[in-house]
Amino acid sequence: MNPRAVRRSTALAAQLGLVDRLRSTPADRELARDIDAGLDRVEADLAEQVRFADEIADTTTSYLLKAGGKRVRPVLTLLTAHLGRGITDEVIAAATAIEVTHLGSLYHDDVMDDADKRRGVPSAQTVWGNSVAILAGDLLFARASQLMAELGERAIRLQAATFERLVLGQLHETVGAPDGEDPVQHYLQVLADKTGSLIAAAARSGVIFSGAPDEFEQPIVEYGERVGVAFQIIDDVIDLSPQPRDTGKVPGTDLRAGVVTLPLLRLRELAQTDAASADLLDRLERDVIGVPEGDDPVADALIAELRAHPATEYTLAEAHRWARDAVSSLDPLPQGQVTKALTRFADTVVERSN
Ligand code: IPE
Ligand code: IPE
Ligand code: MG
Ligand code: MG
Repeated sequence: MNPRAVRRSTALAAQLGLVDRLRSTPADRELARDIDAGLDRVEADLAEQVRFADEIADTTTSYLLKAGGKRVRPVLTLLTAHLGRGITDEVIAAATAIEVTHLGSLYHDDVMDDADKRRGVPSAQTVWGNSVAILAGDLLFARASQLMAELGERAIRLQAATFERLVLGQLHETVGAPDGEDPVQHYLQVLADKTGSLIAAAARSGVIFSGAPDEFEQPIVEYGERVGVAFQIIDDVIDLSPQPRDTGKVPGTDLRAGVVTLPLLRLRELAQTDAASADLLDRLERDVIGVPEGDDPVADALIAELRAHPATEYTLAEAHRWARDAVSSLDPLPQGQVTKALTRFADTVVERSN
């Protein structure tokens, strides 16, 4: 993703599915332009927020910001703000704080997942070591809290509760399902916590800080959680993608780090009754799962085999189901431009390849 990192502005809303060249109306395009203008403000704020008046702090915290990123969460905040008064200063501050939180979580996640690459560049801990990467993440979390504090107690509580869930998600993923708990249920809860919570908070912030009616909050939170689960299920499939140039990540990072993903969980289920699935599972367990990466064509071929297996087809279908359920959550809202754009956004999330 890195070569395209600095392509910001006009095309971003379109890229995230908010406008569709064939079907969009002038009003849809106007909404997309407004969101792109808001994103430019968020982008300027983000650049400002990674300045700590200290060279090593600035270099490390700005590193992944400059490397790229899709800005999915700010787009959602800016979009749902159109359910109220539109893009206010508070909406921009909340969108920035949430993206800063996300950015901090990437530094920590790459340490936990032992990931070599992020956003097309070497991950922070491969450049500066674990301690600096963890501290850069901490600085960003501190900065996100400061930004939210400017928006008052409600914002601070939202930030704290969301961050608690994100961390619990990462913790429960790390320790795995306890004996007696269904592994798929455990996995889905991990996804809702580590990813759904922040995406839901992004969508909710647009409602809150644009002064939209209180009764819009619940449907939007539900939408955000579900679209967030769909987003993360697709992320699991992207881990199997042989196109590191698109994903900016090393294929098989999750598998090699022993992170449980839905393609693997489904393969384990199928392996109970299907010999070919059991054989693939055996080979993955021998050569990929928990095996640190190297230049290994055998592992690459096995990852490609899992990508082409019905277990991954099932995973994609599940992501589509979550996206459809997300759209159903919007039923109580007045149907219009914003619900239409949120529907397109959900479609784009499950069709994405990066
Ligand atoms: C990556 O999120 C971490 C997950 C929760 C899957 P994104 O896919 O939004 O990452 P960037 O911001 O575009 O790099
Ligand atoms: C990341 O999940 C979730 C958070 C950063 C909270 P993953 O580990 O699946 O995301 P990627 O694939 O590294 O982006
Ligand atoms: Mg990761
Ligand atoms: Mg992870």
